[in-house]
Amino acid sequence: MASSASAVRVLLLVVLALASCASAATAARTPTLANGLSFEFYKATCPQAESIVFNFLRDAIRKDVGLAAALVRIHFHDCFVQGCDGSVLLDDTATQTSEKAAIPNQTLRPTAFKAINDVRALLQQACGGPVVSCADIAALAARDSVQLAGGPHYAVPLGRRDGLAPAPAKDIFAALPPPTSNVTTLLRFLAQISLDADDLVALSGAHTLGIAHCVSFEERLFPTQDPTMDKWFAGQLKLTCPALNITNTTVNDIRTPNVFDNKYYLDLLNRQGLFTSDQDMHTDARTKPTVTRFAVDQAAFFDQFVFSVVKMGQINVLTGNQGQIRTDCSAPNAASNNDELPWSVLETVAETLAL
Ligand code: HEM
Ligand SMILES: *[C@@H]1O[C@H](CO)[C@@H](O)[C@H](O)[C@H]1NC(C)=O
Ligand SMILES: *[C@@H]1O[C@H](CO)[C@@H](O)[C@H](O)[C@H]1NC(C)=O
Ligand SMILES: *[C@@H]1O[C@H](CO)[C@@H](O)[C@H](O)[C@H]1NC(C)=O
Ligand SMILES: *[C@@H]1O[C@H](CO)[C@@H](O)[C@H](O)[C@H]1NC(C)=O
Repeated sequence: MASSASAVRVLLLVVLALASCASAATAARTPTLANGLSFEFYKATCPQAESIVFNFLRDAIRKDVGLAAALVRIHFHDCFVQGCDGSVLLDDTATQTSEKAAIPNQTLRPTAFKAINDVRALLQQACGGPVVSCADIAALAARDSVQLAGGPHYAVPLGRRDGLAPAPAKDIFAALPPPTSNVTTLLRFLAQISLDADDLVALSGAHTLGIAHCVSFEERLFPTQDPTMDKWFAGQLKLTCPALNITNTTVNDIRTPNVFDNKYYLDLLNRQGLFTSDQDMHTDARTKPTVTRFAVDQAAFFDQFVFSVVKMGQINVLTGNQGQIRTDCSAPNAASNNDELPWSVLETVAETLAL
């Protein structure tokens, strides 16, 4: 009896020691948390928030695997353009009048915008509110999409608040590098938001999922074929995009298009990366060693991806009483319906009324 009890105690100690090792290792790879964000942000106000998001997406992605790719990309666009404030979710007919401005946005999938709004409605049903911000929903949806597609699971710091207006077209172009970019250009874009070469290589690994339209890579086929592209691969792409301006799509990762794994880096090693922005990472000396490492070591890719995506998810976030919590992710709250007046305004009102 005594010996079995002490055996249990020893086992327990071993388990605890292992668990604390694991969490220490994770902690060492967690970027510093932005002020106002925390892993327990909705613990009191909407404890079931994360399971509601996950359960919804598990069913939705089972029906439409493309939704996972679309949600991961939305979080990226949200964060790169004016910070992770859910502004990418806002309808904006004004910005769309600029045809160019619409280009990067046009290929964001409507199914993903709808999924985020559907989740938002479920959260409001469960927790009242609005309590959970659209920017947080986008971050959680991207996280769950990565996992549901076979990638790593990671904790998301929460507490982002939603921006009040969409970004102007010029800001979208200043923030999102085009797929024709080489590594020098990509690093210049990423440096504006404190992301480095390792972040670039790991985050681009999200192109292990999803699709692209011909317009995003046709400059590598016409008028002359990009010599850095594998000839067989170029031939395949020309079947999909036989000339300029064809409205057709192909998968980003020819090996495992719907699985979040490290095969994208194997594509690059075989000169079968789709965009210049992908393939040049295997040419440029600043990124090539990391590409090669991730191609042979999926755990190393997952580890860096988690670190970099959590970092990306904290770019210029609004917290505290900045911004608002939207009641509809595609539109700012109506002024009369604005739940959060800044405290300073409330204090002024209180003083005026001599409360
Ligand atoms: C670093 C520079 C990047 C460039 C130049 C770039 C460019 C693009 C382009 C042109 C497309 C295809 C759009 C289309 O034609 O339909 C695309 C798709 C995609 N991108 Fe990126 N991207 C970059 C970084 C990222 C990052 C950081 C992520 C996420 C962490 C990401 C996730 C995705 C996903 C998942 C898709 C597929 C979307 C779908 O199937 O709906 N990309 N990207
Ligand atoms: C982005 O695209 C979505 C759906 O395609 C659209 O509803 C939204 O208004 C667009 N937003 C901007 C800022 O153009
Ligand atoms: C990268 O692209 C920029 C802009 O197109 C160009 O000026 C530069 O020469 C390119 N750098 C390399 C190393 O190819
Ligand atoms: C679109 O791509 C498919 C598959 O590669 C191809 O069979 C089809 O002919 C392409 N459509 C056009 C309009 O080129
Ligand atoms: C077709 O593609 C070319 C080259 O990218 C571009 O200059 C032209 O404006 C496009 N035409 C249409 C109708 O989109």
